[in-house]
Amino acid sequence: MAFPVNRPRRLRRNETLRRMVRETRLAPDDLVLPLFVCPGRGVKREVTSMPGVAQMSVDNIIAEAHETFAAGVPAVILFGLPERKDNIGSEAWNDDGEVQRAIREIKERVPSLAVITDVCMCEYTDHGHCGVVREGDVDNDATLELLVREALSHARAGADIVAPSDMMDGRVGAIRDALDENGFQQVAIMAYSAKFASAFYGPFREAADSAPQFGDRRSYQMDPPNGDEAIREVMYDLEEGADIVMVKPALAYLDLIWRVKQEFGVPVAAYNVSGEFSMIRAAGINGWLDEKRATLEVLTSIKRAGADLILTYFAKDVARALSG
Ligand code: PBG
Repeated sequence: MAFPVNRPRRLRRNETLRRMVRETRLAPDDLVLPLFVCPGRGVKREVTSMPGVAQMSVDNIIAEAHETFAAGVPAVILFGLPERKDNIGSEAWNDDGEVQRAIREIKERVPSLAVITDVCMCEYTDHGHCGVVREGDVDNDATLELLVREALSHARAGADIVAPSDMMDGRVGAIRDALDENGFQQVAIMAYSAKFASAFYGPFREAADSAPQFGDRRSYQMDPPNGDEAIREVMYDLEEGADIVMVKPALAYLDLIWRVKQEFGVPVAAYNVSGEFSMIRAAGINGWLDEKRATLEVLTSIKRAGADLILTYFAKDVARALSG
């Protein structure tokens, strides 16, 4: 039936009516806050390209973890900045490394906060690539062994969920096998399954000091135009034992969040990455748009597309805005 019988504006007349028919509601429960753990004590070093985001030493990470959980956010994901880097990133599986210490302290002081760890080599290698470099390329199978060591070290420290972000083939299966063989059957895997070689990671590489020193990541991260391939990547990761699959970045890939959710019906995470954060924050600081409204609109769109979990640097601010 058409106008004038149909008048969609009837249900938009005031906020009460709008609330009654609102289809998607963002909640603090949907959010995960990324944190950058660095060496030292009392360190809080702001990332120039991400105003309001800082690299923090373990003591400050604990304070942040407390505040984040108090704001209603159920989980954090940890990235490490090691004391020293080498060719194979051996600090990644140091049981006394920054991330490992942060996991233990959070689990002791804020036990109900879920701790996810990013499992990747790029923050730990001196060349900045996500694995072992042989003859100018990242060697897939040699890298698996290192990722397994890193994931096991995180599990020993008490991580609830490990999240491989390297995009090597077969890493989910390799990590699942190793976790199970070592008594960590209950540690879940959130796989960065459809992770694209994106320009939107720019600010993160300053935050995590992880820029590749030569070349780029296009031989392992996905080619942005490919949607069917993203579905295959998700399928392989689920076959290998992923508990949660991720699409990353979020905004330029909302169609894939939708497709993955429709196709598989499993828990889907989406990463609202550093570049997506910095664009809104910079425009907000300049008074070019209303940061709070823009953020809520963007994160709600990611949820509407099908994401169950949203990793975002806005997590604490948004959780406060939602409950305040
Ligand atoms: C590590 C990793 C990256 C991000 C998450 N894990 C960077 C990259 O792949 O270069 C990006 C996160 C962001 O931009 O917010 N491989």
